[in-house]
Amino acid sequence: MENFSFYSPTKFVFGKETERRCGALVKEFGGSKVLIHYGGGSVVRSGLLDRVKKSLTEVGVQFCELGGVTPNPRSGKVYEGIELCKKENVDFILAVGGGSSIDSAKAIAMGVCYDGDFWDFYSGKERPKKALPVGTVLTIAAAGSEGSGDSVITHENGMLKRGASGECIRPRFSILNPQLTTTLPAYQTACGATDIMAHVFERYFTNTTDVQTTDRLCEAVLLSMIEETPKVIKDPNDYQARANIMWAGMVAHNNIVGVGREQDWNSHGIEHELSALYDCAHGAGLAVIMPAWMTYVVDHDVMRFAQMACRVWNCKMDFQNPKKTALEGIAAFRSFLKSIGMPINFSELGAKESDIPYLVKTFGLGETGKTGGFVQLTSKDVENIYRLAL
Ligand code: NZQ
Ligand code: ZN
Repeated sequence: MENFSFYSPTKFVFGKETERRCGALVKEFGGSKVLIHYGGGSVVRSGLLDRVKKSLTEVGVQFCELGGVTPNPRSGKVYEGIELCKKENVDFILAVGGGSSIDSAKAIAMGVCYDGDFWDFYSGKERPKKALPVGTVLTIAAAGSEGSGDSVITHENGMLKRGASGECIRPRFSILNPQLTTTLPAYQTACGATDIMAHVFERYFTNTTDVQTTDRLCEAVLLSMIEETPKVIKDPNDYQARANIMWAGMVAHNNIVGVGREQDWNSHGIEHELSALYDCAHGAGLAVIMPAWMTYVVDHDVMRFAQMACRVWNCKMDFQNPKKTALEGIAAFRSFLKSIGMPINFSELGAKESDIPYLVKTFGLGETGKTGGFVQLTSKDVENIYRLAL
């Protein structure tokens, strides 16, 4: 195991009707004028937005609001939010929604405290050091942004989808009420489940040895997702299954399952190009890319893939031919994704083979021309993975 420091100071308030506590929580973390930031209307239709406003009003916290965040959130909304916060003297941002609203809130939080263009944090020009405090009321178990120090935004100039990371954007608190996720369409639920599993796999495939504790934590999250996801696809109102998935989504990405080990993250980078170009759901793009990536890199560490196959997908180890076991595990993952309604290739996603050169070109490879933790990929490798996903 490698040395690490792990600091995850977000206060999680979990359970039924917990959104009623958001006013008190904003006050606890020093907010007096709040920007409520939300998406395309699901929180209006469900009545959640009204409950949030009521909770703020009850404790005397003032607020203004900015809705309209789109999935794969855009830079335009961030600029609008920064301007509004400055004009209204906002000192706390409350995201009500999914990863997109939360990520947009985090971008605004950094932008308000920075004299330059907020995009500097996403282009890699600057590292975030200061941000307004952010709180969240989560409505979909997926991106894990409720517990992460990450934000992903698409710049409308060039449609580049890029991430920024910094401790200052980890939410101060996150309200996780599984009841709020019962209004999700099955497709969005499945996209979320896929993203959660992908966050674990990005960490699970590592070159670091002697990481039994985090290996076993990863496997526990994956096994829970395999058990609970079909339950909520069948019965969207299954509270206990929703609750387990919601907590799994946080655990999968606040890095408790990834400390002390090298991580990969190429599948995410390769997927981000798809959701930037086609505006598809991030989880759906991952369902297409992640099994293709696994198939492409399996020879790098056949035994680790065979371990996944046996421990997570219940495959029988073939000691004469471990690669056969490894490939069975990847096939089981693909079948699972299909069973929950995910696309598993380019055409099911609506992606086009003729776009592959563009996707490869916009994929950021960095100065070394290679990227990734578990396996370093070149642009030719990235192209091959897109082709495997056809
Ligand atoms: O916009 P509204 O009307 O709210 O509708 C949303 C949206 O259409 C809907 N929805 C959310 N909660 C709902 C609901 N509909 C009915 N009932 C509810 N309770 O679901 C759709 C998707 O919402 P979105 O916020 O986009 O989903 P998600 O949480 O999957 O976020 C995806 C974004 O997060 C980024 C992704 O790249 C993508 O841009 N990621 C962020 C990460 C992070 N910050 O740590 C890490 C991830 O790997 C990921 O890259
Ligand atoms: Zn993700």
